[in-house]
Amino acid sequence: MFNDTIHTLPKGYEAIEIASRSIRFSMPSDLQTGALLQTLAGSKPNGRFLEIGTGTGLAAAWLLAGMDSDSSLLSIDNEARYQAVANNILGDDTRLNLLCTDAGQWLEDNQTEQFDLIFADAWPGKYANLDAALNALRVGGLYVIDDMLPQPNWPAGHEDNVAKLVSDLESRTNLHLVKLAWSTGIVIVTKKTN
Ligand SMILES: C[S@@+](CC[C@H](N)C(=O)[O-])C[C@H]1O[C@@H](n2cnc3c(N)ncnc32)[C@H](O)[C@@H]1O
Repeated sequence: MFNDTIHTLPKGYEAIEIASRSIRFSMPSDLQTGALLQTLAGSKPNGRFLEIGTGTGLAAAWLLAGMDSDSSLLSIDNEARYQAVANNILGDDTRLNLLCTDAGQWLEDNQTEQFDLIFADAWPGKYANLDAALNALRVGGLYVIDDMLPQPNWPAGHEDNVAKLVSDLESRTNLHLVKLAWSTGIVIVTKKTN
């Protein structure tokens, strides 16, 4: 019963997968992460969502599938070629705003926007600009990261970055944190206070 077979894929997912392979996009989120994001997104009606690292839009498809009609998703990537796939396949969804820019700079410049769920899936917002990313999280909001368990594609020494990030998050007294052996290793943080 508790297997990891995911039966229902979100709208656009298969088309994005095919397009991702054709441009050799090599950093896709997996199905377990996607299904988790969809489920978490469903807990935030009228929610404001942020994805750092659109890639080709695989996780965005899951988030959109979980979000209600009053919610919105801002997804940032600095690679126009990847984001074009997301735009071609998901761009008709008016809840989605794709922004092609450096996410680190965007996070540092952002003084006003706050989010109910942040999926931080790039270097900025995770291994850099962490304060700015957490400042952009509403109290009660969810900050989600994957790839926290050793992966075959990790560069040499990356485990030190991961250990430092986890201990940084664990040291912050305004957060709750859980480490899940699900997918590539997930950490979910909730914000108690600003
Ligand atoms: C792990 S992939 C994202 C995968 C995607 N979330 C998915 O569901 O398949 C990381 C993405 O972050 C983007 N990225 C890397 N550095 C960035 C930066 N400084 N600003 C914005 N995006 C960046 C890359 O172009 C890449 O598409």
